[in-house]
Amino acid sequence: MAEQTFFKRTHMCGTLSEKQIDETVALNGWVQKRRDLGSLIFVDLRDRSGIVQIIFDQDISKEAFEAAEKLGSEYVVSVQGVVKARQSENPNLATGKIEIHASILKVLNTADTPPIYIKDDDDVSEGLRLKYRYLDLRKPSMQRNLMLRQQVANHVRQFLSTEGFIEVETPVLTKPTPEGARDYLVPSRVNPGKFYALPQSPQLFKQLLMVSGLDRYFQIVKCFRDEDLRADRQPEFTQIDCEMSFVNMEDVIEINSRMMQSLFKDVMNVDIPMPITRLSYQEAMDRYGSDKPDLRYSMELIDLTEQLADSGFKVFSDTIAKGGQVKCITVKEGADSFTRKEIAALEESAKTYGAKGLAWIKVSAEEVVSPIKKFFSEEELTSLLETADAKAGDLVLFVADQPSVVAASLGFLRTHLAKRLKLYKEDDYQFVWITDFPLLEYDEENQRYVAMHHPFTSPVDEDMVRLEEIPGEVRAKAYDIVLNGYEIGGGSIRIHDANLQSRMFKTLGLTEEETQEKFGFLLDAFRFGTPPHGGIAYGLDRLVMIMAGEDNIRQVIAFPKTQNAGCPLTNAPSVADDKQLEELGIQVRPNTEK
Ligand code: AMO
Ligand code: AMP
Repeated sequence: MAEQTFFKRTHMCGTLSEKQIDETVALNGWVQKRRDLGSLIFVDLRDRSGIVQIIFDQDISKEAFEAAEKLGSEYVVSVQGVVKARQSENPNLATGKIEIHASILKVLNTADTPPIYIKDDDDVSEGLRLKYRYLDLRKPSMQRNLMLRQQVANHVRQFLSTEGFIEVETPVLTKPTPEGARDYLVPSRVNPGKFYALPQSPQLFKQLLMVSGLDRYFQIVKCFRDEDLRADRQPEFTQIDCEMSFVNMEDVIEINSRMMQSLFKDVMNVDIPMPITRLSYQEAMDRYGSDKPDLRYSMELIDLTEQLADSGFKVFSDTIAKGGQVKCITVKEGADSFTRKEIAALEESAKTYGAKGLAWIKVSAEEVVSPIKKFFSEEELTSLLETADAKAGDLVLFVADQPSVVAASLGFLRTHLAKRLKLYKEDDYQFVWITDFPLLEYDEENQRYVAMHHPFTSPVDEDMVRLEEIPGEVRAKAYDIVLNGYEIGGGSIRIHDANLQSRMFKTLGLTEEETQEKFGFLLDAFRFGTPPHGGIAYGLDRLVMIMAGEDNIRQVIAFPKTQNAGCPLTNAPSVADDKQLEELGIQVRPNTEK
C-alpha cells in the first residue's frame, strides 16, 4: 500500500460533543465497525478515548468513497470532517449526539480479520486473549484498567513523596530473599556455576536502606515468586514497598490508613471512614474462619462447642471430647435456595478443606428439616437454633473438627455462599487491619518452624523470652491490610538487633554456617548502628483489581502469565540455545525438556 501521511489530530474521538458542531476536525483511529447503506457509509471510529460515528456520503471524492467502502475492522485511518448534530441520537454512546461528515479519508493501514472482537463482552478463551494481548488491550475495559493502574501508582507516589518517603531502586539480580515461595534463579556467565535469585521482595535492601539512614523509603517494584498461581497471584507482580525508621506498628498503620483513605477519595471518590477496623488474627479466624475476612457481609462463624459437648449426635460430642470444635454459619433466608443435591455439593467442597461432613438444618415456619434432627430433643433444637440465630427460612451449616479444619471449611463456605447469594455490593469497600499474628507456624512436612510473615519480623516484646521454649506461642509485630476479603498488603516491625536476628534464624533451624552464608551481610549491617524500623508492602495488582471491580489480577496486568507461568504471546519460557547454555556452563537433563 502506498504510504499515506496522516492528519495531525485536533481531537480524540471520544471527547467530541455538541460543543464542536460545525467545526472541522481531524481524527486518527481504528475502524470499529462499518455499515454500508449504498450511497451512505457509516464508520465507528475508535481510539483510546472512545468511539465517534463518521459518515461518508457522495460529497466526498469518488476515490475516497471507494476507499471507505473497502474499510475493514481494525483498519487504521485518518479522517478530516465537520462535526454535525446527529439525526438519530445514540444514547448509548458518549458522542451519540453528534457525527462527523467526512471530507477526506486517508487509509494508513489495513488489518487482517482480528481473531478476537474488540469489545468488552467478547467471551473468547483467555488463552486466545493472551496470545493476541495487543488486540485484547484495545478493549475499552482493558484500557480503563491500565489507566486506573497508572492513577493508583501516581497517587501513591505523590502521597508517599509528600510524606517524606524517598523512592530508591533496589537490585533485581540478587541473593534469595525468603518470602515463602521458590526463587527464580538466573545463571551468571562470568561466575560459572553461580546463580543470582530474582527478589521475592526488596525486603533485605529496604532494611539496609534504613541502616543507611534513608529514614523513609518506598518503591513501586516488580517482585518474582515461583509459586502455584491463583486468580490473585502472578509469578511476577508489583509491590508498593515501604519502610520507615523510628516507628512502631501504630505509626505504620496510621500513615497507611491515611494513604488508603486519600487514594480511594482521589481516584474513586469513595469515602473510607477512619479509623479502619482492626481484628486480631485469632478473632478473625474465630469469627470468619480466615485471616483475610470479607467484612462486607456478616454470616459469622458461631461457636456451638460448649452447647454441644453432651450432644446425642456422636459426631459432634466425640469431636469435642477430642479437643475439637463444632461451629456453624447461618445462611439467612437460605432454606429455599438450596436443594439437597446442592447441599451435597457444598459438603463436597467443604471436604476439600478437610471437613469430614457438613451437617445442616433447614428451618421453615412449619417444620425443621435436617439429617441430624433425630439426635436432638425439641428443647435442644430450639436452643441450638437460638444460638445459631436461625429463624424461619434460614439454613444452618455445621462442621465438627479440629479448629483449623472448621475455620478453613466454614470460612470457604462463608465466602462462597456470599458470592452466590450476592450478599454484598460490588462498590462497597471494607478495609480491615489484621494484627497479632503468630510469629511462627509449624511445617509438618519439614518438621520445623517457619516464619509466618518472614524471618525479619520482630516478636512482640513480652513474648521474646519464649522464642526458644514455646516458639509456637510467640506473637509477631506483624500486620496485614485486608480489603473485601483480599490481603492487599502486609508488613511488620523488624528485628534490628543482630543477636535477636541470630536467635530467630536458629529457631528456624538454620545452622551458623547457613545463616552466615545466606544472611551474613544483614547481621554485619546490624552491628553498625541500626535504627528500629518497620514497613509494609502492598500488592499493587490486587489493589487495582479490586478498585477496577475485576476478580482476576490478569485483568489489570498488561502482559500477564497463564496458570502454568507461561506467556502465550511470546511463548516464554522457551528452550535456550546450546551456545548460550554452554557459555553458562549449564547442561539440561534430556528428560526435563518438553
Ligand atoms: P508479602 O509476601 O505479604 O510481604 O507481600 C506483600 C503483598 O504482595 C502481594 N503479593 C502478590 N501479589 C500478586 N502475586 C503474588 N504472587 C503475590 N505475592 C504477594 C500481596 C501481599 O500482601 N517484604 C514483605 C513486606 C514487608 O514485610 O514489608 C512482603 O513481601 O498483596
Ligand atoms: P451420618 O450420621 O454419618 O449420616 O451423618 C449425618 C450428617 O452429619 C451428614 O449430613 C453428614 O454430612 C454430617 N457430618 C458427618 N461428619 C460431620 C462433621 N465432622 N462435621 C459436620 N457434619 C458432619
